[in-house]
Amino acid sequence: MVSKRNIENLIQEPEETGEDAPFAPERHDITFRDVSFSYVPGEPVLKRVSFTVPEGKLTAIVGDSGSGKSTILNLIAKFYEPQSGTITIGDRSIQTVSAERVLAQLSMVDQQVFLFDDTVRENIRHARPTATDREVEAACRDAGCDGFVEKLEKSYDTGIGENGSLLSGGERQRLSIARAILKNSPILLLDEATASLDIENELAVKQAIANLLKEKKTVVMIAHTLSIVKNANQILVVADGTIKESGTHEELLAENGKYAAMWNAEQKITV
Ligand SMILES: Nc1ncnc2c1ncn2[C@@H]1O[C@H](COP(=O)(O)OP(=O)(O)O)[C@@H](O)[C@H]1O
Ligand SMILES: [Mg+2]
Repeated sequence: MVSKRNIENLIQEPEETGEDAPFAPERHDITFRDVSFSYVPGEPVLKRVSFTVPEGKLTAIVGDSGSGKSTILNLIAKFYEPQSGTITIGDRSIQTVSAERVLAQLSMVDQQVFLFDDTVRENIRHARPTATDREVEAACRDAGCDGFVEKLEKSYDTGIGENGSLLSGGERQRLSIARAILKNSPILLLDEATASLDIENELAVKQAIANLLKEKKTVVMIAHTLSIVKNANQILVVADGTIKESGTHEELLAENGKYAAMWNAEQKITV
């Protein structure tokens, strides 16, 4: 009965509305205008949120756990659609673009990495199926995967088990960063997830992210370590379903609000 109900619910999901025409925006700035969204009716997560992510710059999102940071990335990637308001990439509302075409413009490095029961090589090549073996291996090196991959029984041709069950959390994250490097898309969405990693893996993932950020891209990054946030071109502070504060590190410290409180709390821990 449970399975039957799940299948029926899936069949009753509304069809996607976007058209499948090619989507090749000239600019890749991202704008939210009065975007409201809830996963469950009556429990709003975002309430009339507006902001702009400038092209070619690093925008960091900070805020308490559960404040809606990942939700913002889910909406940009069109995993969900807002109940009201518009999201544009360049000058085009993504509502009228198919999810697949939107996804082609971006790479997402997420807390949940999806891996196929296939070789390391094919798992990474999935990001750009026409990539050569050498390109796959180069992306792996930049993501700091080459060390552990070469220790595997058949190196890049080792099967990694169902959803990569043979790999550790940090290794999986680095594989997803390798995918993003290989895909080389104009927009990067990063959900920094170093909290659950041991120190060695944390450093490796941070280095991989630093390599990823070397290319000039439009980056939206949920960051838990404020040292990365500090260098962002723009910081958005999410609280109570809205953007409470926005600006650079210095501007937000001067405001002496929520960001300043978070920053001061972290300084106390690290000193
Ligand atoms: N798939 C979902 N279904 C229902 N509620 C969700 C779902 N994903 C997240 N939420 C809820 O939405 C709120 C915001 O979640 P999220 O964007 O993941 O927060 P953050 O990334 O800032 O920790 C939370 O209250 C969370 O419980
Ligand atoms: Mg999150």
